[in-house]
Amino acid sequence: MRVWRRILKAKIKEIEEKFDSEIRNVSLPEHLEETRVKYLGRKGVLTSLLKQVSALSNDEKPVFGKLLNDLKNNINTKISEKLVDIKSAKKTETKLDITLQGNKPVIGHKHPLTLITQEIKEIFFGLGFETVTGPEIETEYYNFEALNTPADHPARDEHDSFYITSKDLLRTHTSPVQIRVMEKQKPPIRVIAPGRCFRRDATDATHSPIFHQVEGLAIDTNITFGDLKGVLEVFAKQLFGRQTKIRFRPDFFPFTEPSAEYAFSCVNCKGKGCRICKNTGWLEIGGAGMVDPEVFKMMHYDAEKYSGFAFGMGIERIAMIKYHIHDIRMFFENDIRFLRQF
Ligand code: PHE
Repeated sequence: MRVWRRILKAKIKEIEEKFDSEIRNVSLPEHLEETRVKYLGRKGVLTSLLKQVSALSNDEKPVFGKLLNDLKNNINTKISEKLVDIKSAKKTETKLDITLQGNKPVIGHKHPLTLITQEIKEIFFGLGFETVTGPEIETEYYNFEALNTPADHPARDEHDSFYITSKDLLRTHTSPVQIRVMEKQKPPIRVIAPGRCFRRDATDATHSPIFHQVEGLAIDTNITFGDLKGVLEVFAKQLFGRQTKIRFRPDFFPFTEPSAEYAFSCVNCKGKGCRICKNTGWLEIGGAGMVDPEVFKMMHYDAEKYSGFAFGMGIERIAMIKYHIHDIRMFFENDIRFLRQF
């Protein structure tokens, strides 16, 4: 009987080990069921072993009966545990399939007008100019009166500007920021004011009712027209290259005296004449001049002591030249094929 006992015990151990190693490799529920039938089914490994127990003596039967029963319970428990494992593995698999290609997130980037504004700001920063801003909705006082612009000036007409009330309008230029700075600050002043402006212009390739300007203002003792020319020349060369030349021609603005319009030599043909500069060799950039003593008077600045210059330029115009854009409407259409190029 001792031999029987040893053989049966060894057999039980062998079965358990074999079962353990088989179940380890099972990954599908149907294969798990096959394993269960193989061990616990009617013609299974345990059933045939149970039959051998009947050959044992009466006092040994319960001992082995218990061992076999334990084995059966172990196998059952391991099968249910494995089933849970398989199911949860399947769940995490569907959550994260590492073989799938990832979704590349679309990364946004800066609008060309933002890019050029940053570049303009950086250049003027290098020349000692601080960036300031003002409101887009202005009063007639800041937009016109304080800038010495008479009531019969065409820009003051409702047909040319967007009035909100009889006294408030969308600013037609960034020059009102000059006034706001002069009110708050005493000289020396060196500021630029970039921002959005509005005019009742019919839209075409070079006009948009919404556009952007950069205003410049410098006030100190002994500021001359030479300083204005020097600042704009350094700006032109830094933005468009060392070979860029600058030209001033007389013009009129109510808030500067003398006033000028200024142009840069054509970036494309270097002044020889081409389609971009309409064969003139020059690209008109903006207006400028020495701050009119009338403005100083309104701001209670001593016009004998201080002098200053101001200039304005269109940001779209500069971006169009710099990036070879032929139609101003492209800035505002939000066409992703256009914007993606910057
Ligand atoms: N504000 C003027 C315009 O919009 C430009 C300008 C600015 C002229 C500063 C002189 C000085 O046309």
